[in-house]
Amino acid sequence: MKPFDSLPSADGLWSGLRDVSGADTAIVVEQGVVRWVGEPAALPGSCAGLPVHAGGGALVTPGLVDCHTHLVYGGQRANEFALRLAGASYEDVARAGGGIVATVRATREASEEALFDTSSARLASLLAEGVCAVEIKSGYGLALAHERKQLRVARRLGAAHGVTVRTTFLGAHALPPEYAGRSGEYIDLVCREMLPALAAEGLVDAVDVFCERIAFSLAETERVFQAAQALGLPVKLHAEQLSDMGGAALAARYGALSCDHIEHLSQAGIDAMRAAGSVAVLLPGAYYTLRDTQLPPIEALRAAGVPMAVATDHNPGTSPCLSLLLMVNMACTLFRLTLPEAIAGVTAHAARALGVSATHGAIGVGMPANFVLWNVAEAAELAYWFGQRPVRTVVRQGRIAVEAGAGS
Ligand code: NIG
Ligand code: FE
Repeated sequence: MKPFDSLPSADGLWSGLRDVSGADTAIVVEQGVVRWVGEPAALPGSCAGLPVHAGGGALVTPGLVDCHTHLVYGGQRANEFALRLAGASYEDVARAGGGIVATVRATREASEEALFDTSSARLASLLAEGVCAVEIKSGYGLALAHERKQLRVARRLGAAHGVTVRTTFLGAHALPPEYAGRSGEYIDLVCREMLPALAAEGLVDAVDVFCERIAFSLAETERVFQAAQALGLPVKLHAEQLSDMGGAALAARYGALSCDHIEHLSQAGIDAMRAAGSVAVLLPGAYYTLRDTQLPPIEALRAAGVPMAVATDHNPGTSPCLSLLLMVNMACTLFRLTLPEAIAGVTAHAARALGVSATHGAIGVGMPANFVLWNVAEAAELAYWFGQRPVRTVVRQGRIAVEAGAGS
């Protein structure tokens, strides 16, 4: 992998582009920052002498944002895939000692270097498709040293790849086996030791909990949120994935950035999210893998005006997916998002879910240059193809990070 700093600068005039509405557009980048964007005819005369990057009529979108991943972990769980094909449910597998705790064992055994190498390869797949900002959760260590190891790898990935990484502490993802029957004590550990220590080390941008009958209760979730609030950290929640626990309404009371999964979300939960401004993060990869049949309440979210984001939820159990565009396809096909909703779901709304709207999710004057040129004739193709990567060029943090060319 080339050092990010050695990649070519994207400074200059990007001409011959079309935006998602089909309008001709041009972008001026100076010192890695967008200085001007608009109709080519309105380009200021002062831009005349800039080096030109000819777009050749390519579609341009903001850099993609994957706002929910569990990218750093050891091992894989193809065996559970086989068990589920034979009829076991996700909950059956978890209760039988598989599931998240199986990945916890493998992650604890892995060195920081080994985790960095395997995660780096996964991240490279996301980046090759135009991702410019990504969330990475802990939650497969479930002990201070191992949660730290995951979060350190996440930070190192951001530096090595020149990509915005937002870290999320998910110490309350599952009960570690050594705390069996003592979930209250484990939550004490999470709130009193793990979270304060990792936050003090600058490793935590947000705090998440898996609120579910196979994970943590509403009361336990609230304790973690209180600990996050005391440290001034934003919260988000794995909410109402397998049942309606009332987690979204609780998260909204704590001003959650987002509530994620939400297949079983109630109208009360939607109303609370709307009032709090929380983003609904849809994860069609997990829905698909688990062969779920309970659709998230898309129509009600739309009617309420709750912004919807779409993410990979990359993890070894329920969404071993490394393509955000495939999630765009599934969000449209399975969840019936419209094309503009799905594109906003992996750009503007995903940026909001991560709290990075000032720097990601749009091509705006004063924002770092993060945008993607696509080899497609129309924007609908971003959702239409699957198993295909129609990227032409990725500009990430002001550098030409991917140059696949017009023929890809
Ligand atoms: O987002 N729902 C909980 N967490 C992950 C699954 C993690 C796993 O099975 O390893 C999810 O789907
Ligand atoms: Fe998840």
